[in-house]
Amino acid sequence: MKIKDLEFKKLITADKIEKKIKALATSINAEYKDKTPLFLPILNGSFMFASDLLKEVTIPCRISFVKVASYSGTNSTGQVNTLIGLEESLFNQDIIIIEDIIDTGLTLQKIVDELHGRGAKSVEVVALLRKAPAREKNIGAKYIGFELEDEFVLGYGLDYDGLGRNTKDIYKQTVS
Ligand code: IMP
Repeated sequence: MKIKDLEFKKLITADKIEKKIKALATSINAEYKDKTPLFLPILNGSFMFASDLLKEVTIPCRISFVKVASYSGTNSTGQVNTLIGLEESLFNQDIIIIEDIIDTGLTLQKIVDELHGRGAKSVEVVALLRKAPAREKNIGAKYIGFELEDEFVLGYGLDYDGLGRNTKDIYKQTVS
């Protein structure tokens, strides 16, 4: 499959994704059975994963889609990431962030810190994919679908320059 200038080949089939999601949901259903978690899927990338995962979640829960906005700040990196779209009170909530992919883990770390700062009782993460850089730095998520090498992937919500989100399978860039 060609998207703009890059070639991609199938890496994870829809069938495997479906099975993995069922397993992730089974763990969440068991571990949060006495709680009413607030799921926060991070747009845009996690929309498909969140939709399929939440259909398998059978415990009472709330769902609120959020976005990470980055703007130029005055900290050392020059970038500040903040959550937008959050209308719920976070005080005393058990939060489960739904993320498509953890690469360096920087985005996630900032979100987790922000949620704790806003009074969350607990903050955990379910990520469909985790890449090698996050794994090597031991940047964790309580629930992880698939471990990847340091490779660029797309599909099932993930994009390349805005394209390619609308596939059932996940593809990886071929080395040319
Ligand atoms: P991090 O802060 O480096 O962990 O970046 C995480 C975000 O970068 C994800 O939520 C994705 O939106 C994006 N991203 C990272 N790797 C990929 C990839 O291989 N394909 C598409 N998007 C990616």
